[in-house]
Amino acid sequence: MNILLLGSGGREHALAWAVKQNPKCDRLIVAPGNAGIAQIAECAALDIEKGSAVAAFCDENAIDFVIIGPEAPLAAGVADRLRDAGILCFGPSAAAARLEASKSFTKEICDAANAPTAGYGHFTDAEAAKAYIRAEGAPIVVKADGLAAGKGVIVAMTEDEALAAVDDMFSGAFGGAGAEVVIEEFMDGEEASFFVLCDGEDVLPIGTAQDHKRVGEGDTGPNTGGMGAYSPAPVLTDTLAEKALAEIVRPTMAEMAKRGTPYQGVLYVGLMIQDGQPRLVEYNVRFGDPECQVLMMRLGAQALDLMHACAEGRLAGARVNWAADHAMTVVMAAQGYPGSYEKGTIIKGLDALSETSFEMCFHAGTAKENGCTVASGGRVLNITARGATLAEAQQRAYAMVEAIDWPGGFYRADIGWRALK
Ligand code: AMP
Ligand code: GLY
Repeated sequence: MNILLLGSGGREHALAWAVKQNPKCDRLIVAPGNAGIAQIAECAALDIEKGSAVAAFCDENAIDFVIIGPEAPLAAGVADRLRDAGILCFGPSAAAARLEASKSFTKEICDAANAPTAGYGHFTDAEAAKAYIRAEGAPIVVKADGLAAGKGVIVAMTEDEALAAVDDMFSGAFGGAGAEVVIEEFMDGEEASFFVLCDGEDVLPIGTAQDHKRVGEGDTGPNTGGMGAYSPAPVLTDTLAEKALAEIVRPTMAEMAKRGTPYQGVLYVGLMIQDGQPRLVEYNVRFGDPECQVLMMRLGAQALDLMHACAEGRLAGARVNWAADHAMTVVMAAQGYPGSYEKGTIIKGLDALSETSFEMCFHAGTAKENGCTVASGGRVLNITARGATLAEAQQRAYAMVEAIDWPGGFYRADIGWRALK
């Protein structure tokens, strides 16, 4: 099978690593890729948000299967364009990708599917939004409706903070994404992410994970794309996962199918768990980054078979082969992230790291300059390890982190603290 993978982050490095281990993969091209991905696959420059360009590239390179990593090409309809051209593709249509691209759409689907989630109001005008906030009081959550690269959510602890967030959004702080806002009830509890594959009809759980969104130790400081993750998430017990499937995921998938927009791909189900009840925080229409890194570490080569079965509508017969293991990833980021940070700082010590099915250094934002590996983004490396216990995975991951010589970078030393406390 000739495979094209779209994306350039740590998520895509982990996907590429898993796919490459499967003997069914004859050739793997990643567009655009990064310096780490270039060590294991061919990289190609391509405008991945332009469906016609991607379809033409598939034609020229005899691609049999396309895996779409990030949300932007999905929201832009790249999967639709590929399917129109008869190219097998893993990832939802633009209509189904609205589960991530529009928060008000997701709330409306949850209403129709009777799926437990936070109470909310949907507004296109600042005064009505403010009146709702004054009536509900704080804490309260203000969300830009559209895609805002993970930055469009303000968890406001005071009414003033919420009112200011509404002004920011309507004055264009999030561009078009903030032209509409959703204001939600604040949910207390512990968060976990649940990953399922859906082929339009059947749903197959493929793992749970917990992210660390805050930049600082003890979950303090501003939100980031994620500073580390581990899998499985102990808070999401089998009973809770079954409840989430029965009450949230399956009804949502059935509602999408009923509307003529069946969902095909991986669904990232963000849950808040309190008193034995899961409620939906959000859906994403792609793997989490860095959650994908720990899932791929645990799934290995079978990830390709599962994604392929999903794209071909064969999930009813698919099984996940689980080992009773644990994985952890520690994100190394450029000093200053998630604020402004320097690019081009040199990273040493990578060549000495062993790369096995137990230990991998996935690259998120790196480039090669004059033979050196340099940082080219905010989140730069994802140091990922597997073990029989979470403590063992953690010990391995931090031993690798210690071996990396990068004065321009930093990391959180407490990834896994909730599960290991
Ligand atoms: P989202 O982009 O919707 O995932 O929101 C980003 C983060 O904001 C989530 O991971 C939660 O930590 C937090 N959050 C979002 N919605 C709520 C809510 N209704 N109650 C409490 N926290 C929330
Ligand atoms: N790590 C959070 C996300 O991928 O959305």
